[in-house]
Amino acid sequence: MPLFYQQHINQNTRLAIWKIEESEEFFSSSVPLQTKITHPHKRLQHFAGRYLLRFLFPDFPHESILIADTKKPFLENETYHFSISHCGDYAAAIVSKNFHVGIDIEIPVEKILKIQHKFINEKEALFLKQEDLLTNIEKLTLIWSTKETLFKWYGLGNVDFKRMLNVDISNAESLQIISAEIRHNSLNKKLQIHLKHFNKLILTYTFTSV
Ligand SMILES: CC(C)(COP(=O)(O)OP(=O)(O)OC[C@H]1O[C@@H](n2cnc3c(N)ncnc32)[C@H](O)[C@@H]1OP(=O)(O)O)[C@@H](O)C(=O)NCCC(=O)NCCS
Repeated sequence: MPLFYQQHINQNTRLAIWKIEESEEFFSSSVPLQTKITHPHKRLQHFAGRYLLRFLFPDFPHESILIADTKKPFLENETYHFSISHCGDYAAAIVSKNFHVGIDIEIPVEKILKIQHKFINEKEALFLKQEDLLTNIEKLTLIWSTKETLFKWYGLGNVDFKRMLNVDISNAESLQIISAEIRHNSLNKKLQIHLKHFNKLILTYTFTSV
């Protein structure tokens, strides 16, 4: 059973990372597939994410998951708030009975150097050294992951990562908590994004009271 990491944040909020080593049949026997996913590995990742929800809370009602227009999965009665991420052979989920949550996992790859202009804003670029912007795949991935976690926590879509999300990256590499801010329509909220490194894998997550 390749549980890779598990954390009980408190009695009502739990997260876990699964290293996917099973075949699809292992997950499909206990997890319903609600959307058609043609790519086999993406389907496996999707299954593993959903599997974790019930792994964390055995009464999690898979069958009641709805998908918003923004693609965010949710439960209408909000008995649980949850967020899912997958990357390579890993899936992660955070589930809470009383907090709004967001999660992201990433493995740094060179591609981030090419897309950084889409999510790094001027304020963040000022903190980064020119060398970081050219070569620091890990630091850029950390900022990307933090913004993905914010985006998922928010859940309503239509977020401009450059203009609406701001990450305080001074000392980000050595920190376990990063301050970040979302400004969207009338919302202006500061959040604490938690950060963990597992060799190459980066985990970011957040939880805030509802
Ligand atoms: C969809 C998105 C949230 C994550 O997609 P991804 O790269 O596959 O990343 P992850 O594996 O970490 O997350 C996928 C999970 O996020 C969840 N998700 C999807 N849309 C979501 C949303 N709007 N809000 C919250 N969670 C969402 C789903 O649970 C999904 O997994 P599932 O379909 O198996 O249930 C992200 O790519 C996205 O849309 N980002 C914002 C738009 C953007 O890219 N802006 C430009 C900046 S460069």
